[in-house]
Amino acid sequence: MKRSFWLLTAAAILVGMASAQTPAGNAENGKRLFLRDGCWQCHGYAGQGGRDGARIAATALNAQGLIRYVRRPAGAMPAFSEKVATDQELTDIWAYLKSMAAPKPAKDIPLLNQLKSQ
Ligand code: HEC
Repeated sequence: MKRSFWLLTAAAILVGMASAQTPAGNAENGKRLFLRDGCWQCHGYAGQGGRDGARIAATALNAQGLIRYVRRPAGAMPAFSEKVATDQELTDIWAYLKSMAAPKPAKDIPLLNQLKSQ
């Protein structure tokens, strides 16, 4: 009896660990966090990037890659510690970024084609 209790507990912990490694992001919550954590200040409300930050809408990074980057950014970006944004929160932000539209290729933007043909 006792032994099966511990086995079940161990199994529950293992399942918990496995799901923690591949957490599913919640884009709705990610949008809230994107604003709360001030990502928009440099990356723009639509993640479009600008003078102070790279374009991150529809990022090519996977969730783990984004977390790794945000913890130890390569350049001018400040690092965000676990205290400021947890892995789960960053995964939600990632899901939000992924939910944004990728940029259109230039050939699909009519105005640009007009300019070229003039
Ligand atoms: C103070 C300005 C600033 C803030 C705030 C900021 N970033 Fe950045 N971020 C940058 C800059 C600048 C870069 C370009 C590379 C570099 O200098 O680190 C960057 C790069 C990135 C990249 C890598 C882009 C790529 O594909 O290489 C990701 C992902 C990213 N930021 C996510 C975030 C998230 C998520 C937040 C909010 C938790 C955030 N950033 C807040 C300035 C900022």
